[in-house]
Amino acid sequence: MSVARKSVRAIFPAPLRQSMPKVFLKTYGCQMNERDSEQVARDLVSRGYEMTGDEKDADVVLLNTCSVRDLAEQKALGKMGMLGRLRANRPEMVFGFLGCMAQSRGSELTRDIGHVDLVVGTQKFHRVADYVDQIWQRKVLLRDRLMDDERFSIVDVDEEAGSQETIREHVLEERQATAFVSIMQGCNMHCTFCIVPSTRGSERSRRIEEIVREVEGLVTMGVREVTLLGQIVNLFGRHEFPKSAEGLSPFVQLLEAVHAVPGLRRLRFTSPHPIGFRDDLVDAFRRLPKLMPHVHLPMQSGSDRILKAMHRAYTVDKYFALTEKLRAARSDIALTTDIIVGFPGETDDDYAATRELVRRVGFDNAFIFKYSQRRDTPAAEMGDQLPERVKEERNQDLLAVVNELAKAKGEALVGQRVEILCEGLSKTNPDRLSGRSPGNKIVIFEGGERHIGEVFDVQIERSTGFSLYGNPAIF
Ligand code: 5AD
Repeated sequence: MSVARKSVRAIFPAPLRQSMPKVFLKTYGCQMNERDSEQVARDLVSRGYEMTGDEKDADVVLLNTCSVRDLAEQKALGKMGMLGRLRANRPEMVFGFLGCMAQSRGSELTRDIGHVDLVVGTQKFHRVADYVDQIWQRKVLLRDRLMDDERFSIVDVDEEAGSQETIREHVLEERQATAFVSIMQGCNMHCTFCIVPSTRGSERSRRIEEIVREVEGLVTMGVREVTLLGQIVNLFGRHEFPKSAEGLSPFVQLLEAVHAVPGLRRLRFTSPHPIGFRDDLVDAFRRLPKLMPHVHLPMQSGSDRILKAMHRAYTVDKYFALTEKLRAARSDIALTTDIIVGFPGETDDDYAATRELVRRVGFDNAFIFKYSQRRDTPAAEMGDQLPERVKEERNQDLLAVVNELAKAKGEALVGQRVEILCEGLSKTNPDRLSGRSPGNKIVIFEGGERHIGEVFDVQIERSTGFSLYGNPAIF
């Protein structure tokens, strides 16, 4: 309750209130991070802050960070360094790091980057607005009295029980058709390359009723499609809830409950792990018509030896068999994946096996990552770290394979009618509209306002490999 009373509106005397502090919030990394930023923006706006897309115009600068690869960390560190220059004329500006890198580096960040006032970890997003209030209040009210060497900073990277329930509000744009919903936090799988268990903590799931309530609220606001988010969604609820009497996993029970929300047209989820992707989940693609036929199924490697070293606990045969089961459940299912090249000790033969599996599965698309050593992960300590040159060669080689597959998948849809959900104006050409096919491919077409938020067929006329182009078939 003190939260509401401490809002900036209440704190500042009228002259200062004429312009409320403006916040520039930039997000790095995955959809979970985007979702967390949305909650932070919502909290700030509800206290009277104004969001701005222009960093030069900002009083408060927040970077919501990613740690999954070193490059992502370096980008955010570089950006914060540059942004620090803005302070030259405005010493009261507030600078903060949020999220994964904040969690893993903690007070190192305030120590090493002089202008950083705030570091908030992944279980404390709901505290950000409070902390910004406190720092801004102190800086503005004490503007003339603060000594140069007097620093006030807040670092909060503690764990908090129940924090997974705090990412539940949205900032919806007008006619927004799709939304992400966080259903769980953390991961207990401990893949040897991955920093996530230390940045996001151990698996904690939300309650099914809470998630359903959030989806109902979104649908009331006009949202037609939700994507359920988690680091390891198919293991949702495994520590909290039992299987149903019919043997359905908690995740499939959740899918059923969300599927039953009236007015929801489409349901997606990301990302599952091949481990624990059982028949009840495969079967859900047969049974639940709103569940869209696309699975992003991280494969990581096509070599059993490397999978073992990665602590992935499945074999190439098991992975392939799962993709076959999914295709048997829905012949039109789109499969995408994540692959790491250049894991420590990966030989030419291991890499060739990865390349081979990519072709054999015939992915619709894939994200390829060059292995990056992460702090406190077992793989970072392994011998036989590969040179950048080898990683880069394998990256380029595999990209060519993936692009070829993606192009063929797109071309196979030319001449067909595809049902799409229209999301809004095309990002690359605002004279056109953009939607997604059931398999999650972007479809661009000519149309009008009336199409936005609607589900209808589009006749596909051409494909570039990245996007499909077509004409609405009915409207
Ligand atoms: N190096 C490279 N890629 C990584 N990923 C996770 N950790 C690393 C790392 N240390 C990739 C995995 C994961 C995706 C989100 O990021 O492929 O599925």
